Amino acid sequence: MPIVYHNGRFIESSQAIRSIEDRGLLFADGVYEVVRYDNGRPFAMRPHIDRLKRSLGGIELPGIDCEAFGPWSDELMVRNGLKDARVYWQVTRGDTGPRSFYIPEHIEPSITLIAYPAPPVDRKAFPTSGGAISADDCRWTRCWIKSTMLLPASLAKTKAKSAGAIECIFVRHKPGLDAHHVTEGGSTNAFIVRDGELHTHPNDGWVLPGITREVLIDAAHASLGMPVREVCFTLEELKQADEVFVCSTTQLSPITSIDGHTIADGNPGAITTKLHFAYLDRIFDQQ
Ligand code: PDD
Repeated sequence: MPIVYHNGRFIESSQAIRSIEDRGLLFADGVYEVVRYDNGRPFAMRPHIDRLKRSLGGIELPGIDCEAFGPWSDELMVRNGLKDARVYWQVTRGDTGPRSFYIPEHIEPSITLIAYPAPPVDRKAFPTSGGAISADDCRWTRCWIKSTMLLPASLAKTKAKSAGAIECIFVRHKPGLDAHHVTEGGSTNAFIVRDGELHTHPNDGWVLPGITREVLIDAAHASLGMPVREVCFTLEELKQADEVFVCSTTQLSPITSIDGHTIADGNPGAITTKLHFAYLDRIFDQQ
């Protein structure tokens, strides 16, 4: 039985009891993070802690000691005897009594950490590629908050899977712009390579400020000497791109088609592949 961290204790997951009145359940009133561990070491712990703080600020949930999540995660890994895992952190506002829209002054947030084992990464393996489908980005306007309210992404990703695709690409008509633009993937940030430049949606609140996104922007500059532009692009521009990929803590995946339209020659791009290996270098070279 896996051990989880739940409200101050490391216990078997079956013992981690959650109130049916938890606002996380009733109002999706919570935020989360996913941190990767490879060979026993966490990657980019600081940015995850900082983003958790920002997300908690975004939902006006004060009083959480975010610095404790690092040591809790480390201990969870040890207690589960894991070296490779994705550790899920969740903070909800907890049980505030009978269901009410109004948030009382006194709250007892609920904190849960779960370590999901992952296969050890083969540093020499090429990334797994696949097709994507486009989906209406019907999420709220505060996509910079890593909210547990994931139903739009869950529905769209399920549709993608049914279509044999590996990701959905969200497209949104942003106020002030005259066309629909690609925001990000259902659980990833989206990039295109166009005329030797790397393009990704700006961190303007309409996408999650992905930690892998930052690492790859830096790797593109530092390791590939490549110009990066944080700009909006349309679905049509994505279709015509030289390369497309999506990324998150758990993956960097070349996208080889969108809505059945083949991208470039239908193979993972050379720059995408270089970035994949640059990402792995950064994960392992910190060790
Ligand atoms: N998803 N955009 C969205 C909407 C995401 O849900 C994620 C991560 C990302 C990439 O962020 P990062 O590089 O910091 O992992 C972008 C996580 C992994 C998840 O929900 O499981």
